[in-house]
Amino acid sequence: MVGACRESTGHRRKGSSRGEQGVDATCVRRTPPCRSLDRAPVVTNSPSSLAASLTKIPLTSHIEGSSCHPLPEDAAQFDRQDRPFLAIDLFAGAGGLTQGFRDAGFKVVQAVEQDPAATATYTANHPDVDVICADIQTLDPIACLERINLACGEVSILIGGPPCQGFSESNRRTRTLANPKNHLYIDFLRFVTSVKPEWVVFENVAGLRTMERGVILSRILVALREAGYEAESCLLNSANHGVPQVRRRLFVIANRLNLPIPQKTDLVTLAKSDRITVRQAIADLPMLPNGASIDKLEYPSNPTSDYQRKMRQGVGKLVSGNLVTRNCAHIQQRYRHIPEGGNWKDIPVSLLSNYTDRTRCHTGIYHRLSWDLPAKVIGNFRKNMLVHPNQDRGLSVREAARLQGFPDTYHFTGTIGPSQQQVADAVPPLLAEAVAVAIFRSLVSAPQRFSPDPMTAALTVGTVSTSKESASISHTNDIP
Ligand SMILES: C[S@@+](CC[C@H](N)C(=O)[O-])C[C@H]1O[C@@H](n2cnc3c(N)ncnc32)[C@H](O)[C@@H]1O
Repeated sequence: MVGACRESTGHRRKGSSRGEQGVDATCVRRTPPCRSLDRAPVVTNSPSSLAASLTKIPLTSHIEGSSCHPLPEDAAQFDRQDRPFLAIDLFAGAGGLTQGFRDAGFKVVQAVEQDPAATATYTANHPDVDVICADIQTLDPIACLERINLACGEVSILIGGPPCQGFSESNRRTRTLANPKNHLYIDFLRFVTSVKPEWVVFENVAGLRTMERGVILSRILVALREAGYEAESCLLNSANHGVPQVRRRLFVIANRLNLPIPQKTDLVTLAKSDRITVRQAIADLPMLPNGASIDKLEYPSNPTSDYQRKMRQGVGKLVSGNLVTRNCAHIQQRYRHIPEGGNWKDIPVSLLSNYTDRTRCHTGIYHRLSWDLPAKVIGNFRKNMLVHPNQDRGLSVREAARLQGFPDTYHFTGTIGPSQQQVADAVPPLLAEAVAVAIFRSLVSAPQRFSPDPMTAALTVGTVSTSKESASISHTNDIP
């Protein structure tokens, strides 16, 4: 077994080593890492406030109706004041997944992220979370738990999405098992077997199902099942769940409580005609020039849609993130030829002299968004170059964030490049919230099956094997 499960008293220990020692390297892996990589610095947020907040954490957000995916009334009985729903987010990025789970009522207590810029954004938006800025391969999961005064079996849910570029169907170079980044799922599973959460949510691109004939997805499902979890995968389209963007993502959902795993149909789902459009999402944001660089500007108008009203909740007159990539004149000239819904094919050949091999261009290149449809997938601007519906420029950081479902209170720290990357990498918070609420519903639907003693179940959890490739992949839960 990876990491021994020590006995829990059922209570949080007082005077934790983390609370007393603050920032330290106690979570460094005690066993040698799988692959040798440099240690990154460990960053943490206000340990004393975290320790205090762990003692009593009310679940209020959806019970008070602030969520767009409300829970049934009987959800209130799951507001366990003595043992709230604690979550840990691995590969946390800017915190899209965290935001969705928080909005659904989970208390995210720890996050692991390697990139300092993403960590800075995460920390700015979730100051009460213990953030470990480090390469996950160097970390000991039990030591990470000790930092926040928890033992294995005490975490409700482990969530996370390892880097996905290596699985993406648009990646023609490194979409192979030889890419070391395609093996970080092993570290996710290593945390599962040590932390022994009640639930697991693993998110990635749809291409994980087809990369090398789905072998990695198969390994993940086999490993979870061998560790005592019921595990299923499903493909979700964020546009069906309140996000103004067509973005298909794979979710592996698992639990060790014998509770039903939410099916796609258990998620709050919009009719196709009710999908949120680009106009409903961003039409109230400032007009901007190419290369706009003033971060905060006044909203030019009142909100005109429920979505805009929701995104603007808690913000004053100023909106941040009005940063746009500066394109040179010949690129701006190309933009002028593209109609709403059009793409690079609308640009005269004479203006595309540097595109020698146009067979390699896909429809997402120079795509101009349509006002009255959900957006195409928000990827990194340098690769996709999504164009504003009626301004000849790329999307601002805030527009991209709105199309991902980040509220306007969410700040992306740092310069435009890393901010664009963080937005593009994120799980849309509204999609994460839909999944999180469905997990709550699963708990509510079978309360008699809920195990109040995490250790009883935790001790039955076995060893994870990441070597088997033979499992059949269950896709009972797919989108059409
Ligand atoms: C797809 S993004 C995660 C997005 C995040 N779930 C969200 O919703 O905002 C993957 C993240 O994993 C981080 N990452 C990559 N390799 C890592 C490693 N070895 N250890 C920790 N984090 C890593 C990347 O910096 C990136 O932010």
